[in-house]
Amino acid sequence: MFKCIEKENHYCNLFNGEWVSNEKTIDVFSPINNTILGTVPAMSKEDIDKIIENSKTSQLKWGETPVSERASVLHKAAFLLEDQADHIAKVLMNEIGKDIKSSLSEVKRTAEFIRFTADAGKHMDGEAIGADNFPGFKKNKMSFAQRVPLGVILAISPFNYPINLSASKIAPALIAGNSVILKPPTQGSISALHLARIFQAAGLPNGVLNTVTGKASEIGDYIVTKEEINFINFTGSTEIGKHIAKIAGMVPMMLELGGKDAAIVLKDADLDEAAREIVSGAYSYSGQRCTAIKRVLVTEDIADELVKKMLDQVQKLKVGNPEDGCEVTPLINTKSADFVQELIEDAINKGATLLCGNKRIDNLIYPTLFDNVTTDMRLAWEEPFGPVLPIIRVKDMDEAIIIANKSQYGLQSSVFTQNINHAFYVANKLEVGAVQINNKSERGPDHFPFSGVKASGMGTQGIRYSIEAMSRLKSIVLTVD
Ligand code: NAP
Ligand code: G3H
Repeated sequence: MFKCIEKENHYCNLFNGEWVSNEKTIDVFSPINNTILGTVPAMSKEDIDKIIENSKTSQLKWGETPVSERASVLHKAAFLLEDQADHIAKVLMNEIGKDIKSSLSEVKRTAEFIRFTADAGKHMDGEAIGADNFPGFKKNKMSFAQRVPLGVILAISPFNYPINLSASKIAPALIAGNSVILKPPTQGSISALHLARIFQAAGLPNGVLNTVTGKASEIGDYIVTKEEINFINFTGSTEIGKHIAKIAGMVPMMLELGGKDAAIVLKDADLDEAAREIVSGAYSYSGQRCTAIKRVLVTEDIADELVKKMLDQVQKLKVGNPEDGCEVTPLINTKSADFVQELIEDAINKGATLLCGNKRIDNLIYPTLFDNVTTDMRLAWEEPFGPVLPIIRVKDMDEAIIIANKSQYGLQSSVFTQNINHAFYVANKLEVGAVQINNKSERGPDHFPFSGVKASGMGTQGIRYSIEAMSRLKSIVLTVD
Protein backbone atom coordinates (compact mmCIF):
# COMPACT_ATOMS: atom_id res chain seq x y z
CA MET A 1 0.00 0.00 0.00
CA PHE A 2 1.39 3.40 -0.96
CA LYS A 3 0.19 7.00 -1.14
CA CYS A 4 -1.42 7.76 -4.43
CA ILE A 5 -2.43 10.76 -6.43
CA GLU A 6 -5.63 10.32 -8.39
CA LYS A 7 -4.87 10.85 -12.05
CA GLU A 8 -6.13 9.64 -15.40
CA ASN A 9 -9.09 8.04 -13.69
CA HIS A 10 -7.03 5.92 -11.35
CA TYR A 11 -9.05 6.02 -8.14
CA CYS A 12 -7.60 5.49 -4.66
CA ASN A 13 -8.75 4.21 -1.28
CA LEU A 14 -9.23 6.35 1.80
CA PHE A 15 -6.91 5.21 4.58
CA ASN A 16 -6.28 7.23 7.74
CA GLY A 17 -7.23 10.45 5.94
CA GLU A 18 -4.91 9.82 2.99
CA TRP A 19 -5.49 8.34 -0.45
CA VAL A 20 -3.67 5.07 -1.04
CA SER A 21 -3.31 2.44 -3.69
CA ASN A 22 -1.71 -0.87 -4.47
CA GLU A 23 0.39 -2.16 -7.37
CA LYS A 24 -2.51 -4.36 -8.39
CA THR A 25 -5.55 -2.63 -9.86
CA ILE A 26 -8.94 -3.54 -11.32
CA ASP A 27 -10.39 -2.02 -14.47
CA VAL A 28 -13.98 -0.82 -14.16
CA PHE A 29 -15.97 -0.79 -17.42
CA SER A 30 -19.29 0.89 -18.15
CA PRO A 31 -22.22 -1.52 -18.62
CA ILE A 32 -23.64 0.97 -21.13
CA ASN A 33 -20.95 0.74 -23.80
CA ASN A 34 -18.10 -1.27 -22.27
CA THR A 35 -15.72 1.73 -22.25
CA ILE A 36 -13.20 1.84 -19.43
CA LEU A 37 -14.22 4.26 -16.68
CA GLY A 38 -11.13 3.94 -14.54
CA THR A 39 -9.15 1.66 -12.29
CA VAL A 40 -9.46 1.01 -8.58
CA PRO A 41 -6.88 -0.58 -6.28
CA ALA A 42 -7.10 -4.30 -5.54
CA MET A 43 -6.20 -4.15 -1.85
CA SER A 44 -4.26 -7.08 -0.45
CA LYS A 45 -4.76 -9.05 2.75
CA GLU A 46 -1.75 -7.23 4.29
CA ASP A 47 -3.39 -3.88 3.41
CA ILE A 48 -6.59 -5.05 5.08
CA ASP A 49 -4.71 -5.88 8.29
CA LYS A 50 -3.30 -2.33 8.44
CA ILE A 51 -6.67 -0.78 7.64
CA ILE A 52 -8.44 -2.73 10.38
CA GLU A 53 -5.79 -1.79 12.92
CA ASN A 54 -6.14 1.88 11.97
CA SER A 55 -9.97 1.74 12.11
CA LYS A 56 -9.77 0.23 15.57
CA THR A 57 -7.48 2.95 16.92
CA SER A 58 -9.37 5.80 15.24
CA GLN A 59 -12.69 4.67 16.69
CA LEU A 60 -11.57 5.27 20.26
CA LYS A 61 -11.47 9.07 19.95
CA TRP A 62 -14.51 9.25 17.64
CA GLY A 63 -16.53 7.23 20.15
CA GLU A 64 -15.71 9.90 22.77
CA THR A 65 -16.61 12.79 20.46
CA PRO A 66 -19.89 14.47 21.47
CA VAL A 67 -22.85 13.38 19.35
CA SER A 68 -23.54 17.03 18.43
CA GLU A 69 -20.04 17.24 16.88
CA ARG A 70 -20.50 13.96 15.00
CA ALA A 71 -23.83 15.33 13.74
CA SER A 72 -22.13 18.51 12.44
CA VAL A 73 -19.77 16.42 10.30
CA LEU A 74 -22.74 14.51 8.86
CA HIS A 75 -24.62 17.74 8.12
CA LYS A 76 -21.57 19.05 6.26
CA ALA A 77 -21.34 15.80 4.30
CA ALA A 78 -25.02 16.04 3.33
CA PHE A 79 -24.49 19.60 2.14
CA LEU A 80 -21.43 18.68 0.04
CA LEU A 81 -23.15 15.67 -1.48
CA GLU A 82 -26.14 17.74 -2.53
CA ASP A 83 -23.82 20.42 -3.88
CA GLN A 84 -22.05 17.88 -6.10
CA ALA A 85 -25.17 15.87 -6.94
CA ASP A 86 -25.14 16.46 -10.70
CA HIS A 87 -21.54 15.35 -11.12
CA ILE A 88 -21.82 12.31 -8.84
CA ALA A 89 -25.10 11.24 -10.49
CA LYS A 90 -23.33 11.16 -13.83
CA VAL A 91 -20.52 9.02 -12.42
CA LEU A 92 -23.15 6.67 -11.00
CA MET A 93 -25.11 6.50 -14.25
CA ASN A 94 -22.01 5.57 -16.24
CA GLU A 95 -20.82 3.00 -13.73
CA ILE A 96 -24.04 1.09 -13.07
CA GLY A 97 -26.23 2.07 -16.04
CA LYS A 98 -28.98 3.63 -13.93
CA ASP A 99 -31.06 6.22 -15.78
CA ILE A 100 -30.00 9.79 -15.07
CA LYS A 101 -33.21 10.78 -13.25
CA SER A 102 -32.95 7.81 -10.86
CA SER A 103 -29.20 8.37 -10.42
CA LEU A 104 -29.80 11.96 -9.39
CA SER A 105 -32.60 10.86 -7.13
CA GLU A 106 -30.28 8.28 -5.48
CA VAL A 107 -27.71 10.98 -4.70
CA LYS A 108 -30.23 13.51 -3.39
CA ARG A 109 -32.05 10.87 -1.35
CA THR A 110 -28.68 9.96 0.19
CA ALA A 111 -28.01 13.57 1.22
CA GLU A 112 -31.44 13.63 2.91
CA PHE A 113 -30.66 10.30 4.55
CA ILE A 114 -27.41 11.60 6.04
CA ARG A 115 -29.08 14.80 7.28
CA PHE A 116 -31.99 12.92 8.89
CA THR A 117 -29.53 10.49 10.51
CA ALA A 118 -27.54 13.36 12.04
CA ASP A 119 -30.71 14.73 13.64
CA ALA A 120 -32.06 11.34 14.70
CA GLY A 121 -28.75 10.49 16.37
CA LYS A 122 -29.12 13.48 18.67
CA HIS A 123 -32.32 11.97 20.06
CA MET A 124 -31.10 8.45 20.72
CA ASP A 125 -31.26 8.90 24.48
CA GLY A 126 -30.62 6.20 27.02
CA GLU A 127 -32.82 5.74 30.06
CA ALA A 128 -32.69 5.48 33.82
CA ILE A 129 -34.60 2.48 35.18
CA GLY A 130 -35.61 2.16 38.80
CA ALA A 131 -35.52 -1.27 40.46
CA ASP A 132 -38.53 -1.07 42.76
CA ASN A 133 -41.12 -2.05 40.16
CA PHE A 134 -39.56 -5.54 40.03
CA PRO A 135 -40.83 -7.78 42.86
CA GLY A 136 -38.45 -7.94 45.82
CA PHE A 137 -36.43 -4.80 44.93
CA LYS A 138 -36.35 -1.44 46.72
CA LYS A 139 -35.94 2.11 45.49
CA ASN A 140 -32.20 2.10 46.28
CA LYS A 141 -31.06 0.74 42.91
CA MET A 142 -31.03 2.36 39.50
CA SER A 143 -29.74 1.30 36.07
CA PHE A 144 -28.35 4.06 33.84
CA ALA A 145 -28.63 2.50 30.38
CA GLN A 146 -26.86 4.43 27.65
CA ARG A 147 -26.17 3.76 23.97
CA VAL A 148 -22.52 3.06 23.22
CA PRO A 149 -20.84 2.23 19.91
CA LEU A 150 -19.96 -1.33 18.88
CA GLY A 151 -16.48 -0.49 17.51
CA VAL A 152 -15.47 -1.24 13.91
CA ILE A 153 -18.34 -1.71 11.43
CA LEU A 154 -17.71 -3.53 8.15
CA ALA A 155 -20.12 -2.11 5.54
CA ILE A 156 -20.57 -4.14 2.35
CA SER A 157 -22.82 -2.66 -0.32
CA PRO A 158 -24.30 -4.00 -3.61
CA PHE A 159 -23.89 -2.70 -7.16
CA ASN A 160 -27.43 -1.40 -7.58
CA TYR A 161 -27.23 1.41 -4.99
CA PRO A 162 -23.48 1.93 -4.43
CA ILE A 163 -24.00 5.42 -3.00
CA ASN A 164 -27.24 5.08 -1.11
CA LEU A 165 -26.66 1.61 0.32
CA SER A 166 -23.13 2.58 1.35
CA ALA A 167 -24.27 5.79 3.06
CA SER A 168 -27.21 4.05 4.72
CA LYS A 169 -24.66 1.95 6.58
CA ILE A 170 -21.95 4.59 7.07
CA ALA A 171 -24.05 7.47 8.43
CA PRO A 172 -25.92 5.57 11.21
CA ALA A 173 -22.69 3.78 12.17
CA LEU A 174 -20.81 7.09 12.45
CA ILE A 175 -23.47 8.96 14.42
CA ALA A 176 -23.43 6.04 16.90
CA GLY A 177 -19.67 6.55 17.38
CA ASN A 178 -18.30 3.64 15.38
CA SER A 179 -15.55 3.68 12.79
CA VAL A 180 -16.42 2.18 9.40
CA ILE A 181 -14.61 0.12 6.81
CA LEU A 182 -16.48 0.30 3.52
CA LYS A 183 -16.06 -2.57 1.06
CA PRO A 184 -18.01 -1.32 -1.95
CA PRO A 185 -19.17 -3.50 -4.84
CA THR A 186 -16.42 -3.76 -7.44
CA GLN A 187 -18.84 -2.48 -10.09
CA GLY A 188 -19.84 0.62 -8.13
CA SER A 189 -16.48 1.31 -6.42
CA ILE A 190 -15.86 4.53 -8.31
CA SER A 191 -19.20 5.96 -7.19
CA ALA A 192 -18.62 4.78 -3.61
CA LEU A 193 -15.14 6.36 -3.53
CA HIS A 194 -16.76 9.67 -4.50
CA LEU A 195 -18.94 9.27 -1.41
CA ALA A 196 -15.86 8.61 0.74
CA ARG A 197 -14.34 11.85 -0.58
CA ILE A 198 -17.42 13.72 0.57
CA PHE A 199 -17.08 12.41 4.14
CA GLN A 200 -13.40 13.30 4.18
CA ALA A 201 -14.08 16.82 2.88
CA ALA A 202 -16.77 17.22 5.54
CA GLY A 203 -14.06 16.94 8.21
CA LEU A 204 -14.44 13.35 9.37
CA PRO A 205 -11.33 12.61 11.49
CA ASN A 206 -8.64 10.43 9.92
CA GLY A 207 -9.29 6.70 10.00
CA VAL A 208 -12.93 6.94 11.07
CA LEU A 209 -13.94 5.95 7.54
CA ASN A 210 -11.57 3.74 5.55
CA THR A 211 -12.34 2.05 2.24
CA VAL A 212 -11.23 -1.29 0.79
CA THR A 213 -11.72 -1.90 -2.91
CA GLY A 214 -10.92 -5.26 -4.43
CA LYS A 215 -12.69 -8.32 -5.74
CA ALA A 216 -14.63 -10.03 -2.97
CA SER A 217 -13.75 -13.36 -4.55
CA GLU A 218 -10.16 -12.63 -3.43
CA ILE A 219 -10.53 -10.66 -0.19
CA GLY A 220 -14.18 -11.11 0.88
CA ASP A 221 -13.82 -14.17 3.09
CA TYR A 222 -10.65 -12.73 4.62
CA ILE A 223 -12.19 -9.45 5.72
CA VAL A 224 -15.48 -10.87 7.04
CA THR A 225 -13.64 -13.33 9.28
CA LYS A 226 -11.29 -10.80 10.93
CA GLU A 227 -11.99 -10.92 14.63
CA GLU A 228 -11.50 -7.15 15.06
CA ILE A 229 -14.70 -6.51 13.09
CA ASN A 230 -17.50 -5.83 15.57
CA PHE A 231 -20.49 -5.78 13.20
CA ILE A 232 -21.09 -6.70 9.57
CA ASN A 233 -23.69 -4.66 7.72
CA PHE A 234 -24.25 -6.43 4.40
CA THR A 235 -26.60 -5.83 1.50
CA GLY A 236 -26.45 -8.16 -1.49
CA SER A 237 -27.57 -11.53 -2.75
CA THR A 238 -28.99 -14.27 -0.57
CA GLU A 239 -26.24 -16.63 -1.71
CA ILE A 240 -23.43 -14.36 -0.46
CA GLY A 241 -25.35 -13.29 2.64
CA LYS A 242 -25.80 -16.92 3.73
CA HIS A 243 -22.16 -17.63 3.01
CA ILE A 244 -21.01 -14.70 5.18
CA ALA A 245 -23.35 -15.73 8.00
CA LYS A 246 -21.83 -19.21 7.90
CA ILE A 247 -18.17 -18.23 8.00
CA ALA A 248 -18.14 -15.04 10.09
CA GLY A 249 -18.60 -16.68 13.48
CA MET A 250 -20.04 -14.93 16.50
CA VAL A 251 -20.18 -11.42 15.11
CA PRO A 252 -23.49 -9.54 15.04
CA MET A 253 -24.70 -8.70 11.56
CA MET A 254 -27.48 -7.20 9.51
CA LEU A 255 -28.27 -8.93 6.22
CA GLU A 256 -30.46 -7.32 3.57
CA LEU A 257 -30.78 -9.86 0.78
CA GLY A 258 -32.76 -10.87 -2.27
CA GLY A 259 -36.51 -10.77 -2.82
CA LYS A 260 -39.35 -12.08 -4.95
CA ASP A 261 -41.93 -9.42 -4.10
CA ALA A 262 -45.47 -10.37 -5.11
CA ALA A 263 -48.17 -7.97 -6.24
CA ILE A 264 -51.53 -9.51 -5.35
CA VAL A 265 -54.41 -8.04 -7.32
CA LEU A 266 -57.97 -8.70 -6.14
CA LYS A 267 -61.21 -8.23 -8.07
CA ASP A 268 -62.17 -5.01 -6.28
CA ALA A 269 -58.87 -3.26 -7.16
CA ASP A 270 -58.59 -0.07 -9.18
CA LEU A 271 -57.00 -1.84 -12.16
CA ASP A 272 -55.61 1.28 -13.82
CA GLU A 273 -53.78 2.20 -10.63
CA ALA A 274 -52.65 -1.38 -10.08
CA ALA A 275 -51.27 -1.70 -13.62
CA ARG A 276 -49.38 1.62 -13.33
CA GLU A 277 -47.84 0.79 -9.95
CA ILE A 278 -46.91 -2.78 -10.90
CA VAL A 279 -45.21 -1.84 -14.16
CA SER A 280 -43.27 1.00 -12.58
CA GLY A 281 -42.35 -1.25 -9.62
CA ALA A 282 -41.25 -4.13 -11.83
CA TYR A 283 -39.26 -2.43 -14.57
CA SER A 284 -37.62 0.71 -13.12
CA TYR A 285 -33.83 0.39 -13.29
CA SER A 286 -34.52 -2.69 -15.41
CA GLY A 287 -35.80 -4.63 -12.40
CA GLN A 288 -32.43 -4.45 -10.64
CA ARG A 289 -33.93 -3.53 -7.27
CA CYS A 290 -34.37 -5.87 -4.34
CA THR A 291 -37.87 -4.44 -3.93
CA ALA A 292 -38.85 -4.71 -7.59
CA ILE A 293 -42.19 -6.44 -8.10
CA LYS A 294 -41.08 -9.86 -9.31
CA ARG A 295 -44.40 -11.70 -9.75
CA VAL A 296 -48.06 -10.80 -10.12
CA LEU A 297 -50.76 -12.98 -8.54
CA VAL A 298 -54.13 -12.00 -9.97
CA THR A 299 -57.55 -13.55 -9.51
CA GLU A 300 -58.92 -15.17 -12.68
CA ASP A 301 -62.06 -12.98 -12.88
CA ILE A 302 -60.08 -9.79 -13.57
CA ALA A 303 -56.91 -11.24 -15.07
CA ASP A 304 -57.70 -10.47 -18.74
CA GLU A 305 -58.46 -6.83 -17.97
CA LEU A 306 -55.37 -6.36 -15.79
CA VAL A 307 -53.10 -8.05 -18.32
CA LYS A 308 -54.32 -5.71 -21.09
CA LYS A 309 -53.73 -2.62 -18.96
CA MET A 310 -50.29 -3.83 -17.89
CA LEU A 311 -49.26 -4.58 -21.45
CA ASP A 312 -50.27 -1.03 -22.47
CA GLN A 313 -48.01 0.35 -19.73
CA VAL A 314 -45.08 -1.93 -20.54
CA GLN A 315 -45.20 -0.90 -24.19
CA LYS A 316 -44.78 2.74 -23.15
CA LEU A 317 -41.48 2.06 -21.32
CA LYS A 318 -38.44 3.72 -22.84
CA VAL A 319 -35.64 1.28 -23.59
CA GLY A 320 -32.00 2.14 -24.29
CA ASN A 321 -29.42 4.58 -23.00
CA PRO A 322 -29.74 5.80 -19.39
CA GLU A 323 -28.65 9.27 -20.48
CA ASP A 324 -31.77 9.56 -22.65
CA GLY A 325 -34.13 9.00 -19.74
CA CYS A 326 -34.82 5.33 -20.54
CA GLU A 327 -36.11 3.23 -17.64
CA VAL A 328 -34.94 -0.05 -19.13
CA THR A 329 -31.19 0.05 -19.70
CA PRO A 330 -28.37 -2.50 -20.18
CA LEU A 331 -28.02 -4.90 -17.24
CA ILE A 332 -24.94 -4.70 -15.04
CA ASN A 333 -23.02 -7.45 -16.89
CA THR A 334 -23.29 -10.30 -19.38
CA LYS A 335 -23.61 -12.94 -16.67
CA SER A 336 -26.75 -11.24 -15.32
CA ALA A 337 -28.24 -10.88 -18.80
CA ASP A 338 -27.51 -14.55 -19.55
CA PHE A 339 -29.27 -15.57 -16.33
CA VAL A 340 -32.38 -13.52 -17.17
CA GLN A 341 -32.41 -15.05 -20.65
CA GLU A 342 -32.28 -18.54 -19.11
CA LEU A 343 -35.39 -17.80 -17.03
CA ILE A 344 -37.19 -16.44 -20.10
CA GLU A 345 -36.38 -19.55 -22.12
CA ASP A 346 -37.46 -21.87 -19.33
CA ALA A 347 -40.86 -20.09 -19.16
CA ILE A 348 -41.32 -20.27 -22.94
CA ASN A 349 -40.37 -23.96 -23.05
CA LYS A 350 -42.84 -24.78 -20.29
CA GLY A 351 -45.72 -23.03 -22.06
CA ALA A 352 -46.04 -19.52 -20.57
CA THR A 353 -47.68 -16.92 -22.84
CA LEU A 354 -45.12 -14.34 -23.98
CA LEU A 355 -46.91 -10.98 -24.22
CA CYS A 356 -43.93 -8.83 -25.18
CA GLY A 357 -40.14 -8.72 -25.02
CA ASN A 358 -37.69 -11.60 -25.27
CA LYS A 359 -35.48 -9.36 -27.36
CA ARG A 360 -31.84 -8.85 -26.41
CA ILE A 361 -29.01 -6.67 -27.68
CA ASP A 362 -25.84 -7.52 -25.72
CA ASN A 363 -26.76 -6.81 -22.07
CA LEU A 364 -29.90 -4.87 -22.94
CA ILE A 365 -32.96 -7.02 -22.36
CA TYR A 366 -36.23 -5.53 -23.56
CA PRO A 367 -39.09 -5.45 -21.04
CA THR A 368 -40.57 -8.93 -21.07
CA LEU A 369 -44.03 -9.79 -19.77
CA PHE A 370 -45.44 -13.31 -19.38
CA ASP A 371 -49.01 -14.42 -18.71
CA ASN A 372 -50.14 -17.90 -17.59
CA VAL A 373 -46.95 -18.61 -15.69
CA THR A 374 -47.30 -21.74 -13.59
CA THR A 375 -45.57 -22.89 -10.44
CA ASP A 376 -43.39 -25.45 -12.24
CA MET A 377 -41.53 -22.61 -14.00
CA ARG A 378 -38.34 -21.10 -12.59
CA LEU A 379 -39.73 -17.60 -13.15
CA ALA A 380 -42.37 -18.28 -10.49
CA TRP A 381 -39.69 -18.62 -7.80
CA GLU A 382 -36.29 -17.22 -8.82
CA GLU A 383 -35.19 -13.59 -8.60
CA PRO A 384 -34.28 -12.49 -12.16
CA PHE A 385 -32.87 -9.05 -11.21
CA GLY A 386 -33.84 -8.00 -14.72
CA PRO A 387 -36.81 -6.63 -16.71
CA VAL A 388 -39.00 -9.72 -16.83
CA LEU A 389 -42.29 -10.15 -15.00
CA PRO A 390 -44.44 -13.29 -14.64
CA ILE A 391 -48.22 -13.15 -14.18
CA ILE A 392 -49.67 -16.11 -12.30
CA ARG A 393 -53.46 -16.52 -12.36
CA VAL A 394 -55.08 -17.69 -9.10
CA LYS A 395 -58.66 -18.58 -8.17
CA ASP A 396 -58.92 -16.40 -5.05
CA MET A 397 -56.96 -14.45 -2.45
CA ASP A 398 -56.25 -17.50 -0.33
CA GLU A 399 -54.51 -19.22 -3.22
CA ALA A 400 -52.54 -16.00 -3.83
CA ILE A 401 -51.42 -15.99 -0.18
CA ILE A 402 -50.34 -19.66 -0.35
CA ILE A 403 -48.23 -19.11 -3.47
CA ALA A 404 -46.80 -15.82 -2.13
CA ASN A 405 -45.72 -17.50 1.10
CA LYS A 406 -44.25 -20.57 -0.60
CA SER A 407 -41.32 -18.46 -1.78
CA GLN A 408 -37.99 -18.80 0.02
CA TYR A 409 -37.97 -14.96 0.10
CA GLY A 410 -39.89 -12.59 2.35
CA LEU A 411 -38.94 -9.00 1.61
CA GLN A 412 -42.11 -7.07 0.70
CA SER A 413 -45.43 -7.60 -1.08
CA SER A 414 -48.21 -5.41 -2.43
CA VAL A 415 -51.93 -5.96 -2.31
CA PHE A 416 -54.26 -4.04 -4.62
CA THR A 417 -57.89 -3.78 -3.50
CA GLN A 418 -60.41 -1.09 -2.58
CA ASN A 419 -61.70 -3.28 0.25
CA ILE A 420 -59.86 -2.49 3.47
CA ASN A 421 -60.93 -5.77 5.08
CA HIS A 422 -59.45 -7.76 2.21
CA ALA A 423 -56.31 -5.62 2.31
CA PHE A 424 -55.71 -6.34 5.99
CA TYR A 425 -56.69 -10.00 5.66
CA VAL A 426 -53.99 -10.51 3.01
CA ALA A 427 -51.43 -8.22 4.68
CA ASN A 428 -51.72 -10.03 8.00
CA LYS A 429 -51.10 -13.42 6.40
CA LEU A 430 -48.08 -12.57 4.24
CA GLU A 431 -44.67 -13.65 5.57
CA VAL A 432 -42.68 -10.54 4.62
CA GLY A 433 -41.00 -7.49 6.18
CA ALA A 434 -43.64 -5.05 4.88
CA VAL A 435 -46.87 -5.08 2.89
CA GLN A 436 -47.83 -2.13 0.71
CA ILE A 437 -51.53 -1.48 0.18
CA ASN A 438 -52.28 -0.10 -3.32
CA ASN A 439 -48.63 0.81 -3.88
CA LYS A 440 -45.61 -0.84 -5.44
CA SER A 441 -43.08 -2.36 -3.07
CA GLU A 442 -40.30 0.05 -2.12
CA ARG A 443 -37.86 0.78 0.72
CA GLY A 444 -38.47 4.46 1.27
CA PRO A 445 -39.08 6.75 2.99
CA ASP A 446 -35.81 5.78 4.56
CA HIS A 447 -36.82 6.24 8.18
CA PHE A 448 -39.45 3.49 7.85
CA PRO A 449 -38.39 0.07 9.15
CA PHE A 450 -37.12 -2.06 6.26
CA SER A 451 -36.35 -5.72 6.69
CA GLY A 452 -36.65 -9.11 5.10
CA VAL A 453 -37.64 -12.44 6.63
CA LYS A 454 -36.65 -15.98 5.57
CA ALA A 455 -33.98 -15.83 2.82
CA SER A 456 -34.47 -12.05 2.45
CA GLY A 457 -32.34 -11.28 5.47
CA MET A 458 -32.17 -10.50 9.14
CA GLY A 459 -32.17 -7.29 11.12
CA THR A 460 -33.97 -4.04 10.40
CA GLN A 461 -32.72 -1.05 8.42
CA GLY A 462 -34.27 2.40 8.61
CA ILE A 463 -32.55 5.34 10.22
CA ARG A 464 -33.42 4.85 13.89
CA TYR A 465 -33.33 1.05 13.60
CA SER A 466 -29.92 1.13 11.92
CA ILE A 467 -28.49 3.34 14.67
CA GLU A 468 -29.91 0.95 17.27
CA ALA A 469 -28.46 -2.06 15.46
CA MET A 470 -24.99 -0.52 15.35
CA SER A 471 -24.91 0.50 19.00
CA ARG A 472 -25.67 -1.33 22.20
CA LEU A 473 -27.19 -0.51 25.55
CA LYS A 474 -24.59 -0.42 28.29
CA SER A 475 -25.88 -0.23 31.79
CA ILE A 476 -24.19 1.26 34.85
CA VAL A 477 -26.00 0.29 38.04
CA LEU A 478 -26.00 2.49 41.09
CA THR A 479 -26.94 1.04 44.48
CA VAL A 480 -27.25 3.26 47.53
CA ASP A 481 -27.67 2.10 51.12
P1 NAP B 1 -23.62 -9.73 -4.41
O1 NAP B 1 -23.01 -10.35 -5.58
O2 NAP B 1 -24.08 -10.58 -3.29
O3 NAP B 1 -22.54 -8.65 -3.89
C1 NAP B 1 -22.83 -7.74 -2.84
C2 NAP B 1 -21.55 -7.26 -2.20
O4 NAP B 1 -20.92 -8.35 -1.53
C3 NAP B 1 -20.49 -6.73 -3.18
O5 NAP B 1 -19.83 -5.65 -2.57
C4 NAP B 1 -19.56 -7.91 -3.35
O6 NAP B 1 -18.25 -7.52 -3.75
C5 NAP B 1 -19.57 -8.44 -1.92
N1 NAP B 1 -19.17 -9.84 -1.73
C6 NAP B 1 -19.28 -10.88 -2.60
N2 NAP B 1 -18.76 -12.01 -2.03
C7 NAP B 1 -18.33 -11.67 -0.79
C8 NAP B 1 -17.68 -12.38 0.26
N3 NAP B 1 -17.39 -13.68 0.17
N4 NAP B 1 -17.36 -11.71 1.37
C9 NAP B 1 -17.62 -10.39 1.49
N5 NAP B 1 -18.22 -9.66 0.52
C10 NAP B 1 -18.58 -10.30 -0.59
O7 NAP B 1 -24.91 -8.84 -4.82
P2 NAP B 1 -25.07 -7.78 -6.00
O8 NAP B 1 -25.10 -8.51 -7.29
O9 NAP B 1 -24.11 -6.66 -5.82
O10 NAP B 1 -26.54 -7.20 -5.67
C11 NAP B 1 -27.71 -7.80 -6.12
C12 NAP B 1 -28.37 -8.60 -5.02
O11 NAP B 1 -28.50 -7.80 -3.86
C13 NAP B 1 -29.80 -9.01 -5.37
O12 NAP B 1 -30.02 -10.31 -4.93
C14 NAP B 1 -30.67 -8.02 -4.58
O13 NAP B 1 -31.96 -8.49 -4.31
C15 NAP B 1 -29.84 -7.82 -3.36
N6 NAP B 1 -30.16 -6.54 -2.72
C16 NAP B 1 -30.87 -6.56 -1.55
C17 NAP B 1 -31.22 -5.38 -0.94
C18 NAP B 1 -32.03 -5.36 0.34
O14 NAP B 1 -32.06 -4.33 1.00
N7 NAP B 1 -32.70 -6.45 0.72
C19 NAP B 1 -30.82 -4.17 -1.50
C20 NAP B 1 -30.07 -4.19 -2.68
C21 NAP B 1 -29.74 -5.39 -3.27
P3 NAP B 1 -17.75 -7.69 -5.28
O15 NAP B 1 -18.54 -6.71 -6.07
O16 NAP B 1 -16.30 -7.38 -5.23
O17 NAP B 1 -18.04 -9.10 -5.66
O1 G3H C 1 -32.37 -2.83 -4.14
C1 G3H C 1 -32.76 -2.70 -2.99
C2 G3H C 1 -33.06 -1.40 -2.40
O2 G3H C 1 -33.01 -1.47 -1.00
C3 G3H C 1 -34.41 -0.96 -2.89
O3 G3H C 1 -34.62 0.36 -2.62
O4 G3H C 1 -37.09 0.35 -3.04
O5 G3H C 1 -35.83 2.48 -2.91
O6 G3H C 1 -35.51 0.96 -4.86
P1 G3H C 1 -35.82 1.06 -3.40
